[in-house]
Amino acid sequence: MKVIEKKLVFLVCFFMFVIEGFAEKCELYDEIPAQGSISEKQGHEYWAKIYEVFSHPRCTNCHVGADNIPMWSGPSYGVTRPHGMNVSAPVIGAHGTRGGSDSFECSSCHTTTNNTIAHGAPGVYNEDMDGEKVSWVLPPVDFEWFGKTSKEVCEQVKDSKRNGGKENAKEIADHLCHDKFIAWSWKPGAGRESAPYSLKENIADVLAWGAAGMPCPEY
Ligand code: HEC
Ligand code: HEC
Repeated sequence: MKVIEKKLVFLVCFFMFVIEGFAEKCELYDEIPAQGSISEKQGHEYWAKIYEVFSHPRCTNCHVGADNIPMWSGPSYGVTRPHGMNVSAPVIGAHGTRGGSDSFECSSCHTTTNNTIAHGAPGVYNEDMDGEKVSWVLPPVDFEWFGKTSKEVCEQVKDSKRNGGKENAKEIADHLCHDKFIAWSWKPGAGRESAPYSLKENIADVLAWGAAGMPCPEY
């Protein structure tokens, strides 16, 4: 390689390092287990725990399908049913998220804090990577988990074409770390059941599943 080319390679690497350094660090994990250090069998066990979280009502009530209707499900709701008050979220926003309708915004009820009364509308302050406020919305329809099997959710989560461009377990873990809707699932407000384990444990499980090669179950 010519000297000038070597210098260029060095510069590009240096800037990549600087950019990486600026990216907000996740406080919820320190180390990423080395690729291959976890067996495929253990990987399946980690995925089973991850699915317990991802299929929990605190996640799936937002991660719904193409009808754009959030769900009311889980012990605090008794029966599973579509969101009351004819709420649906047909308006596509940034990154394919779904919120509001012609007549109202989700954020007119779902503010940046939880209601302190049981069955009051929950809420949390959330912002995207650029520091822009994100009001309470549904994820893109690709991230549909409500009623989906373990195999289906697993295959979607690791498919960068359907998961918002996340290439590996670290990128999924970093999303789990930074998105405050996810943190909300462990602090869901009066009367609501939290997602299982803890966010920290869920992130560790995702990284371990990644180190095992992201195996998915048969069903
Ligand atoms: C208030 C609604 C809401 C709740 C509750 C919610 N999410 Fe999401 N989720 C979203 C939105 C909106 C996005 C898209 C964010 C973006 O692209 O910036 C998203 C995206 C994601 C993604 C990245 C895409 C993918 O499919 O890989 C993951 C992972 C995720 N959520 C996990 C969870 C988990 C786990 C829970 C429960 C512990 C949860 N979410 C609860 C709204 C929600
Ligand atoms: C008129 C007020 C109102 C509007 C508008 C509204 N919601 Fe709700 N939402 C509520 C209330 C109240 C609850 C809690 C009901 C309960 O706990 O019994 C709720 C609960 C939810 C839940 C379930 C959270 C959980 O897991 O317990 C989701 C998801 C949700 N709303 C999404 C949305 C979305 C998306 C929009 C906009 C398309 C929206 N809501 C618009 C009042 C509203």
